[in-house]
Amino acid sequence: MEHTKHLWRVLFILLLVAVAVVVGRHFVIPPSFGLQGFYRYDSLAEYAAKPVMHGGSASCAACHQDIAQQREQGKHQTVSCEVCHAPLALHAKEGAKTADMPLNRSVGLCAYCHQALKARPATMPQIDLREHLTKLEVITAKDDIPEGACVTCHDVHNPAMEQESPPEGNVSDANAVPATQ
Ligand code: HEC
Ligand code: HEC
Ligand code: HEC
Ligand code: HEC
Repeated sequence: MEHTKHLWRVLFILLLVAVAVVVGRHFVIPPSFGLQGFYRYDSLAEYAAKPVMHGGSASCAACHQDIAQQREQGKHQTVSCEVCHAPLALHAKEGAKTADMPLNRSVGLCAYCHQALKARPATMPQIDLREHLTKLEVITAKDDIPEGACVTCHDVHNPAMEQESPPEGNVSDANAVPATQ
């Protein structure tokens, strides 16, 4: 049986690997894995224990009734407050304000939904930012787009287009408030 000796060596090594896998698996795989399916069952309780961050627009309306009403009358009625602002938990807790809500007046916020893109549904109002601002004579073709340009004309909570001409003065000065967060 001289010629089968090398085969036994290979089988022995495979056996060692199999034992290592069976024993190693015990240490590496979390105990609750597979209890209810192909996932770690304990992760459900861990996620459920995380603090709730968002409250929904109704939670904002409790303290900001005026703005909630404004929003309901305009085209942004379907846009949640927390999309443009931040989650409730960063700002208010148990009926009291706990910290300032970050205010994002940047062009980027509006561009996120309104920058013209072929992939967007045609029913979504879309503009080319540069074209829009040039046509309205807010900037010339060479200027950079000033941060905060959009909120000088459009009321964010009810973005009707009442203002026909650019406001007096420099648009970016009008918004020299600590801008983006
Ligand atoms: C489309 C984005 C957007 C949505 C939706 C939105 N906001 Fe705003 N909000 C802004 C921006 C931008 C400003 C800063 C406006 C400015 O300075 O002219 C602002 C300002 C505010 C202010 C402070 C200034 C003020 O006008 O009194 C409050 C309070 C506020 N928002 C609350 C809300 C609440 C409550 C909702 C939901 C009912 C909401 N916002 C929905 C973008 C939004
Ligand atoms: C418990 C009451 C309460 C709730 C709930 C609440 N706010 Fe406020 N918020 C305040 C108070 C008070 C101020 C400061 C005075 C003011 O501007 O009306 C404020 C101010 C703000 C401001 C201006 C920046 C600042 O912090 O001064 C924004 C923007 C804002 N809130 C957005 C929101 C949004 C969005 C929600 C919902 C996710 C919300 N708030 C929920 C009480 C509340
Ligand atoms: C999360 C997405 C989102 C963001 C961010 C957003 N909008 Fe809108 N906006 C919408 C939707 C949705 C509509 C309504 C589309 C419709 O049903 O006609 C709309 C409508 C509008 C309209 C059209 C109003 C009309 O009468 O036709 C203007 C103007 C507008 N938004 C300006 C802004 C400005 C300025 C900002 C930035 C401060 C902004 N939007 C941020 C989603 C957004
Ligand atoms: C000088 C004032 C002014 C500024 C600044 C301005 N807009 Fe407008 N916007 C208007 C006017 C007026 C209209 C309506 C006429 C038109 O479509 O040109 C309008 C229309 C829109 C519409 C609706 C387009 C449609 O097809 O229904 C959107 C969306 C919009 N603006 C978003 C923005 C965004 C985003 C910014 C910031 C880059 C911005 N606007 C800056 C005055 C302004």
